[in-house]
Amino acid sequence: MRNTLLSLLALAALAAPLSAQGSELKGKYYFKKSCKACHVPGQPGKEVTPLVKTQAQWKAYFAAGKHNQGKEKLGTGTTVKPDQMKDIMTFLIAHASDSPQPMTCGG
Ligand code: HEC
Repeated sequence: MRNTLLSLLALAALAAPLSAQGSELKGKYYFKKSCKACHVPGQPGKEVTPLVKTQAQWKAYFAAGKHNQGKEKLGTGTTVKPDQMKDIMTFLIAHASDSPQPMTCGG
């Protein structure tokens, strides 16, 4: 038991520098879970995928933190926590239209 705890602590320490940048994989999950409901064709948010912006545009978008044509704070009405929003940002930037791996699906 004690060893398990120690190795968990060691893992957490190793993972810490990575999480400072956000996790692309988690971001994909949170994007699907918290954003996609409104962001598929035919829904009020219209289709949003990583491809709708360039990397620079996504960075600027998250830096501004405004959503829904600037009417509200990004994340309003979702259960997304700040660190999860960072993961979503990491995912969207990693697959933006001018990224090395553009991705249409996002869910
Ligand atoms: C409750 C529904 C809803 C949820 C959940 C939602 N959005 Fe939106 N989103 C909208 C609406 C409505 C618009 C405005 C669409 C329009 O008319 O242009 C929008 C617009 C956008 C836009 C286009 C630029 C803008 O802000 O107008 C982006 C990018 C975006 N949302 C990203 C996200 C992300 C990332 C998440 C998850 C953290 C998310 N949305 C969750 C409803 C939602």
